[in-house]
Amino acid sequence: MDKIKKLISEKEVKERVNILAKELYSEYGNSELVFICTLKGAVFFACDLLKKYKGDARLEFLRVSSYKGTKSSGKIELNLSISKENIENQNVIILEDIVDTGHTLKFLKQYITDMNPKSLKICTLLDKKMRREVEIEADYSCFEIEDLFVVGYGLDYDQKYRNLPYIGVIEK
Ligand code: IMP
Ligand code: MG
Repeated sequence: MDKIKKLISEKEVKERVNILAKELYSEYGNSELVFICTLKGAVFFACDLLKKYKGDARLEFLRVSSYKGTKSSGKIELNLSISKENIENQNVIILEDIVDTGHTLKFLKQYITDMNPKSLKICTLLDKKMRREVEIEADYSCFEIEDLFVVGYGLDYDQKYRNLPYIGVIEK
């Protein structure tokens, strides 16, 4: 196992995610919310957020892939889809692990928009704003980070390190 330098601690992540759960509840608490977890990276984020969300919530999963190693290809493939009946006329939140170039999020947003949700917002755990190649922003972002390749808390490097409870950077 490589040495990992801690960037955001487990405690910091949990605290920030709890704040987001409260923010979402104050906005959507009176209606049902459909959370879409994008696999695999957002799975820890989705679990922690939903456990703290006090309103009526449903959980759906989507899987897309765009990445080989640490370089984004810009080409998005849908590996697991959602049926329209789960989205149409619903308040929907897409949960992403990280927004990097923005290609994945742009694809996801269009894919869900085409199913006519009542509303759609995007929450991302991490945001690398300076890396954007397409114009797209998350509505809620927990942490803005520099141009670093991060792992842990669901994020991987070649499928490794998802199980770290914190977010860190591989030390070369
Ligand atoms: P985008 O399409 O370039 O915005 O890439 C988004 C996807 O690339 C994310 O959902 C992640 O799966 C992956 N990704 C981007 N940056 C990182 C990183 O620093 N660590 C791990 N995965 C990343
Ligand atoms: Mg992802």
